Amino acid sequence: MAVHGLLFAIMFFVSLQTNVFAYQYQVGNLQSWNVPTSEDPKVYANWPKKLTFRIGDSLLFLYPPSEDSVIQVTKESYNACNLKDPILFMNNGNSLFNITTPGIFYFTSGVSGHCEKSQKLQITVYASDGSLPPSYSPSDALDDNAPSYPTVFGGIPSGPSPSSSSTVKTSFLMFVAIGVLIFGVV
Ligand SMILES: *[C@@H]1O[C@H](CO)[C@@H](O)[C@H](O)[C@H]1NC(C)=O
Repeated sequence: MAVHGLLFAIMFFVSLQTNVFAYQYQVGNLQSWNVPTSEDPKVYANWPKKLTFRIGDSLLFLYPPSEDSVIQVTKESYNACNLKDPILFMNNGNSLFNITTPGIFYFTSGVSGHCEKSQKLQITVYASDGSLPPSYSPSDALDDNAPSYPTVFGGIPSGPSPSSSSTVKTSFLMFVAIGVLIFGVV
């Protein structure tokens, strides 16, 4: 039927677009990168769970520069809240971290004491074939604070170098999900 053909074409186009757009994520969807409030103490642990970060996306940390800063740190420093020798230090209040490689990225506040109060963020970025660089073990991506993925995205790849079929599977599942959405509405 012609209408179905058209809808399939639209769905296919939309599913392609979802792989092409680069997003700028405002960290925590918050106006201010700060120590989490008592109403939402796990805001930075929970926020990435609903998201899939891709190469080309960026993270925007907003905050009054007189009050805070952002540092990118190693996993060890992240776990220990060690603020010394960060990988990257940003303190202009409008800090944009550009995702250019796959990997696991760890951030916290550069202000002493803030990391201990859960102002810390960990994100996992998979390569377009669903892999992580060999230096990352799957357990890194699966620990408690790691983002989890809705099954529609195909789940977390089970090994450090899954077959390239995971990309096809992801696109296919996205295609089906969008189809269900569109047909559910029509
Ligand atoms: C990210 O990209 C923007 C725009 O190109 C640039 O202004 C900013 O300095 C970059 N961030 C870092 C940490 O290099």
